[in-house]
Amino acid sequence: MPSEVTVPLLDLKAQYTGAMRDEIRAAIDEVCDSQWFVMGPNVSEFEAEIAAYTGAKHAIGCASGSDALLVALMGLNIGCNAGKNGRVICPSYTFFATGGSTARLGAMPVYVDIDPVTYNMDPDKVREVAKKTDNLAAIMPVHLFGQCVDMNVYREIADEFGVPLIEDAAQAIGSKDPNGHMAGTVADVGCFSFFPSKNLGGFGDGGIMTTNDDELAERLSILRLHGGKPKYYHSMIGVNSRLDALQAAVLRIKLRHLDSWHEGRIANADFYDKAFLDAGAATSATPLSGQADLALRIPERPAAPARHIYNQYAIRVPAEHRDALREHLKANNVGTEIYYPVPLHMQECFAWLGQKEGDLPESEAAARETIAIPIYPELTDEQQQHVVDTVVGYLREHAGASRSVGVAAS
Ligand SMILES: Cc1ncc(COP(=O)(O)O)c(C=O)c1O
Repeated sequence: MPSEVTVPLLDLKAQYTGAMRDEIRAAIDEVCDSQWFVMGPNVSEFEAEIAAYTGAKHAIGCASGSDALLVALMGLNIGCNAGKNGRVICPSYTFFATGGSTARLGAMPVYVDIDPVTYNMDPDKVREVAKKTDNLAAIMPVHLFGQCVDMNVYREIADEFGVPLIEDAAQAIGSKDPNGHMAGTVADVGCFSFFPSKNLGGFGDGGIMTTNDDELAERLSILRLHGGKPKYYHSMIGVNSRLDALQAAVLRIKLRHLDSWHEGRIANADFYDKAFLDAGAATSATPLSGQADLALRIPERPAAPARHIYNQYAIRVPAEHRDALREHLKANNVGTEIYYPVPLHMQECFAWLGQKEGDLPESEAAARETIAIPIYPELTDEQQQHVVDTVVGYLREHAGASRSVGVAAS
């Protein structure tokens, strides 16, 4: 008998209520009355507010997180804009745009495996691959699910190989790395997305780039406007990637609530951590043996000063149960998603790179075993308990299932 409790993966209507709803509607009205829809004061104010929030010196709005990556690469002279087609190291277990941006510019992504505990690109493997890569042009780590890589380590690697560093921080605004650095403040360019499902989500697409480099900031702000400055005079070939004034107006209001939403997500992660551990789950860092008696791994919580902002909370179960568990959750009105079912090195469009199944075992295992469950800040305890009971109920019912989960070699 399906449960009465419903838990969507994300409920944006629960956020769009009360005073914030009124403020947003008033801000939209103001933009409509002004008829100033592209760039303008809301965009520049928002850019200044994001610079202040992250601590980066500059923030440059653009049309999406994907474009932020694209324009960042162009600004760093990587790809066809500069006639250079070098190689860019990035993870395979990520959203398409991470690798797509590089390939789109005529450069080559080189996919590197992840650390199975954090799901982020493994810096030791990055070093190994960098040593063997000719024409290395950049390194692009991703702060997956809202958890930052160690940017000191990546800065060191990038400096060792003399290449720029780009942070794909699309899922990580407000997140802090293990040294306490805010996402987007250590690399040459940080790239953020305001897709509606992000912790700071707009009413459509939007993105922003952050940098501490004055000259690069100027290049990025020109490149997003077709590469022309003054208007109609082009020293560079750019793209049309402007942030809409309507998006900026909405995002400015939402930004004021961002830290409290992060806190809500962190509190929800605490709830899940405790409930799943009490039920016998292990963390991703703990081998499944000893006390752990449930075939389930939960994310490892990074220690302060790191701050995970939980854009996603991904649990991990044996591959043969992942899809059945997902169906069971759906039958009990719980929304889930698979981030990501096919790692980029196994995507059809990247076959030409020559990387194939079996090359990145941790990425492939994560793609088979993880499942994202609802973590948005407005979740109630009742909803969270329902998610826990449904997951644990399924796994207990299949108690004979293999408990070897989260180890690629198994
Ligand atoms: C890791 C990562 N990179 C890049 C992007 C692209 O952002 P957008 O959807 O705003 O183009 C996303 C968005 O889902 C993402 O999750």
